[in-house]
Amino acid sequence: MKVFITGHTSGIGLATFELLKEQGYNVIGGSRRTGFDISDERLYSQIFDCDVFINNSYHKTGQLNILEAVYNEWQNKSKTIINIGSWGKDNQQGRPLTRLNYNVAKKALETYSFWIAENDLVCRSMVYNPGFVDTPLARKGCEDWPKEKIEEVLKRIMDPKECAKTIIFMIQNKYKFREITHHA
Ligand SMILES: NC(=O)c1ccc[n+]([C@@H]2O[C@H](COP(=O)([O-])OP(=O)(O)OC[C@H]3O[C@@H](n4cnc5c(N)ncnc54)[C@H](OP(=O)(O)O)[C@@H]3O)[C@@H](O)[C@H]2O)c1
Repeated sequence: MKVFITGHTSGIGLATFELLKEQGYNVIGGSRRTGFDISDERLYSQIFDCDVFINNSYHKTGQLNILEAVYNEWQNKSKTIINIGSWGKDNQQGRPLTRLNYNVAKKALETYSFWIAENDLVCRSMVYNPGFVDTPLARKGCEDWPKEKIEEVLKRIMDPKECAKTIIFMIQNKYKFREITHHA
């Protein structure tokens, strides 16, 4: 089975890329440092002949664009798409306005994936919403939080390897999940 994953050089994507390789999958990664930027639509065709697409890298418009492009090719075909959303998109109280782009982008991604799940009986599109995961992105995101809040959250922060196990479970289970959410 051939898998394409974006953002395979750090955090959740790296852990998933490594676990997939360990399990014998033919896995291709795409990150900016390896020449694949999800904001560049000309690169998307590299994904089309794969069986599974893990839409992991966040970009305010790119994550939805890449899903649209891949789904246009994969309609009614026996393929699997895992979109990495976020538990945090539904929790806005006390969050700065500057974070709104992120929530809106993840909501749009989820809405698109749910449409596929409800209307396409062959192609599986699912959302995995991680909670708070120990990656460079998460560490940077809480830099300006009060010290007590950081300490409290760090007690229950997830290991990216746990996210990788969940993503691979979603691929291997033959049933369709609308979404799986880990609570932060
Ligand atoms: N960490 C958390 O707590 C958390 C919680 C909920 C959801 N998430 C979601 O999980 C996903 C992965 O996050 P992470 O925490 O694992 O992040 P991370 O450790 O910062 O890794 C991000 C990965 O994406 C790649 N990337 C960034 N911009 C890209 C672009 N424009 N095109 C292609 N690749 C790009 C990076 O490589 P390059 O820099 O080389 O491009 C890197 O491999 C994101 O969708 C994020 O929203 C994370």
